[in-house]
Amino acid sequence: MASVIIRFGLLANILSVFQVTHALTLNVSTTGGNASSPILYGLLFEDVYHSGDGGLYAELVQNRAFQGTTINLDSNNHVEGPFQNLDYWHSSGPEVTLTLDNQQPSLSDALPYHMRVDVASGSGSDNNNTGFWNEGFWGMNITTATRYAANFYLRGDYEGDIVCAFWSNTTNSMLGNTTFTGISQTDSDGWKLYQQTFTPFASGPDEKNTFHLTFDGTAVAGSNLRFNMISVFQQTWKNGNNGLRMDLAEAMNDIGGKYLRMPGGNNLEGQSSPYRWKWNETIGSIIDRPGFPGTWGYYNTNGLGLLEMMQWCIDMGLETILGVWGGYYLDHEVVAEADLQPYIDDVLNELEFLLGPENSTYGSLRASLGYPDPFTIKYVEIGNEDFFDSSNSYINYRFSMFSDAIKAAYPDMIIISSIWSGYFTDPVLPNGTVQDLHDYFSASDMVSKFNGYDNADRNYPVLVGEYAAIYDDEHTNPNQLDNPTLQSATSEAVYILGLERNSDLVVGFSHGALIKSLHDEPDNVAMMKHSPTEIVLSMSYYVAKLFATNYGSQTVPVTADTGYGPLYWSVMKNESETYFVKIVNYDGVDSTPVMVNIPGKSNEAKLITLTAPDMYSSNLPGNTTSIWTETTNKKLRGGKIVGARNDW
Ligand SMILES: *[C@@H]1O[C@H](CO)[C@@H](O)[C@H](O)[C@H]1NC(C)=O
Ligand SMILES: *[C@@H]1O[C@H](CO)[C@@H](O)[C@H](O)[C@H]1NC(C)=O
Ligand SMILES: *[C@@H]1O[C@H](CO)[C@@H](O)[C@H](O)[C@H]1NC(C)=O
Ligand SMILES: *[C@@H]1O[C@H](CO)[C@@H](O)[C@H](O)[C@H]1NC(C)=O
Ligand SMILES: *[C@@H]1O[C@H](CO)[C@@H](O)[C@H](O)[C@H]1NC(C)=O
Ligand SMILES: *[C@@H]1O[C@H](CO)[C@@H](O)[C@H](O)[C@H]1NC(C)=O
Ligand SMILES: *[C@@H]1O[C@H](CO)[C@@H](O)[C@H](O)[C@H]1NC(C)=O
Ligand SMILES: *[C@@H]1O[C@H](CO)[C@@H](O)[C@H](O)[C@H]1NC(C)=O
Ligand SMILES: *[C@@H]1O[C@H](CO)[C@@H](O)[C@H](O)[C@H]1NC(C)=O
Ligand SMILES: *[C@@H]1O[C@H](CO)[C@@H](O)[C@H](O)[C@H]1NC(C)=O
Ligand SMILES: *[C@@H]1O[C@H](CO)[C@@H](O)[C@H](O)[C@H]1NC(C)=O
Repeated sequence: MASVIIRFGLLANILSVFQVTHALTLNVSTTGGNASSPILYGLLFEDVYHSGDGGLYAELVQNRAFQGTTINLDSNNHVEGPFQNLDYWHSSGPEVTLTLDNQQPSLSDALPYHMRVDVASGSGSDNNNTGFWNEGFWGMNITTATRYAANFYLRGDYEGDIVCAFWSNTTNSMLGNTTFTGISQTDSDGWKLYQQTFTPFASGPDEKNTFHLTFDGTAVAGSNLRFNMISVFQQTWKNGNNGLRMDLAEAMNDIGGKYLRMPGGNNLEGQSSPYRWKWNETIGSIIDRPGFPGTWGYYNTNGLGLLEMMQWCIDMGLETILGVWGGYYLDHEVVAEADLQPYIDDVLNELEFLLGPENSTYGSLRASLGYPDPFTIKYVEIGNEDFFDSSNSYINYRFSMFSDAIKAAYPDMIIISSIWSGYFTDPVLPNGTVQDLHDYFSASDMVSKFNGYDNADRNYPVLVGEYAAIYDDEHTNPNQLDNPTLQSATSEAVYILGLERNSDLVVGFSHGALIKSLHDEPDNVAMMKHSPTEIVLSMSYYVAKLFATNYGSQTVPVTADTGYGPLYWSVMKNESETYFVKIVNYDGVDSTPVMVNIPGKSNEAKLITLTAPDMYSSNLPGNTTSIWTETTNKKLRGGKIVGARNDW
């Protein structure tokens, strides 16, 4: 038997009040254990706090088609329209007036409004500054390192050039431009698309950069031009069409997750009728996507639509957990049983779109959009957090009506319920139904959930579709943590150990907040936060990555000579007999000797540790305090050890 003594303080809180006075011995068995879920570690995405628009979606222009911006609710919590406006747009040149207009013909049915740009007659003295500009989403990342693609649609009588340019608001200087030369069109030509790529000649000194479009004011004086879908993309991850912002996509890919649960979340449900996430309005050309008033305070373009998310799954090797609308809005409106069938048909249409053969009605629509081969989807979740529906309609009819119809068409589909089986005794969820539980707790409650799934009913597999430690002992409801701390992230790590140990039962788990904008939501936790020119990877990000990149396909029995706390552990192994020993020190001292015995293993182990200076350390913009170290220690005589620290 090989053994190794580890002195460690993985994820340690060195200011602890706990004292550990004796060594811990872990005897790792090389037999026994359970198969663990192949998709144990995953990701949840919905457009929340500009995770999509102004975030992962690489569009730089805000309100590019004048669809709307902030969402207002009336006193009944119903969404109040109209939405269209000219927010984030400004005229340039003193003679220019911008007007929201819906004069026919419109660019598309989905985009009835456009921006009319009038130039006063007799003007033209400043003719190369005649036009308008956009603020972006709190600015734009402008760099000479990448290409940009500028696109716009124009209607009107015009002969001349149009210049698209980036400017720094800080230095008041141009950073790059592209000229559309020799435009010659008349109003009777209708809408014409112009698109060009270019590379800036200077990088912005900060995020305060803007996008300008200017034309020959003399040529338009006394008249107007009409513009719509004015778009600028930074070069995307893997150069995807209509794709993802590079740094965020790369960081997300690095987590090593195995599934993507999408498209939500509250944003799937919608705030009030008729506004919900409609799959059929998120596909096709971006000018055919009306967008919708999202549930997180801003209008969604749905540029990052269903097919873009499926492509994302393909590019990152993720299984899809598809959330489908289940008949319930966040304002508590429920679709009555007698009225539900059209919504079930809509879900079947969505599934045919994704999974049907090329010659089916919706499969052929998919093929026409560039995806002839059906996708593979094994998991469908019906609704989101339907336990908020106090009428019990979910268990009374909604779940079964959707589930039965999906099962009839796709017998192998794994159906996920958005409520917990234990809520109900009559009727009950069918045995085998996966239930999506959302665990948002304080750090200490997170730790107390370490054993939470040990005795759970094995008839009901669990998807933890959302988890997060949102308070520490200094912060209580409603004062959530602004950012994960070492302490809160470590509590998530303890919680995850409990999920790993029960990964025969737990299908998967994903952090409840993948991406948020630093500008939109500085005040509560996320795995990643972004501004136009920065991303911050939080302690929770690194915890998720530590676990997801050290996946074992089987749990392994361990015997120990002390109970859990302040040290917690779990052991997994993979098919090639690499053992993953994960140990978390929550609120413990930094120098506990631990001995890990793994019989018959070779003498090479890799040690990965994650810690930070103190329990309240956070990763903040420009200041990553978490410390990730990896060492391969040949002196080790045990198996492969992942997740402890120093001082062998
Ligand atoms: C395997 O699963 C059973 C419950 O089905 C559990 O009692 C046992 O502890 C698990 N074994 C390991 C090594 O996780
Ligand atoms: C406008 O730009 C053109 C081409 O760059 C230049 O020839 C012309 O002098 C400019 N006009 C004014 C008024 O600045
Ligand atoms: C540009 O700078 C001015 C002056 O500092 C400021 O008032 C304005 O809000 C800035 N605009 C943008 C889009 O950054
Ligand atoms: C575009 O940028 C170049 C510098 O690369 C500059 O010489 C030119 O004047 C700019 N064009 C316009 C129309 O601003
Ligand atoms: C999308 O489908 C819904 C039915 O679920 C329908 O009401 C709506 O009109 C469709 N949208 C478009 C653009 O066809
Ligand atoms: C689609 O094609 C398959 C075989 O290629 C055929 O069996 C099926 O009947 C076709 N379905 C339709 C709706 O045409
Ligand atoms: C589920 O299975 C358990 C035993 O495995 C059984 O006791 C229970 O009655 C079943 N429930 C339903 C709804 O079939
Ligand atoms: C800004 O763009 C550069 C060049 O593509 C990229 O390296 C950098 O990650 C981007 N920054 C952000 C925060 O997107
Ligand atoms: C671990 O294994 C060693 C050697 O077999 C044994 O002496 C010790 O009692 C075991 N400890 C535990 C906690 O199982
Ligand atoms: C087991 O894990 C090791 C280390 O991560 C890896 O090199 C090996 O490919 C894995 N084996 C299998 C079968 O996944
Ligand atoms: C970085 O954050 C830590 C606390 O997490 C703080 O002590 C340190 O002063 C910060 N450093 C900078 C450069 O802001």
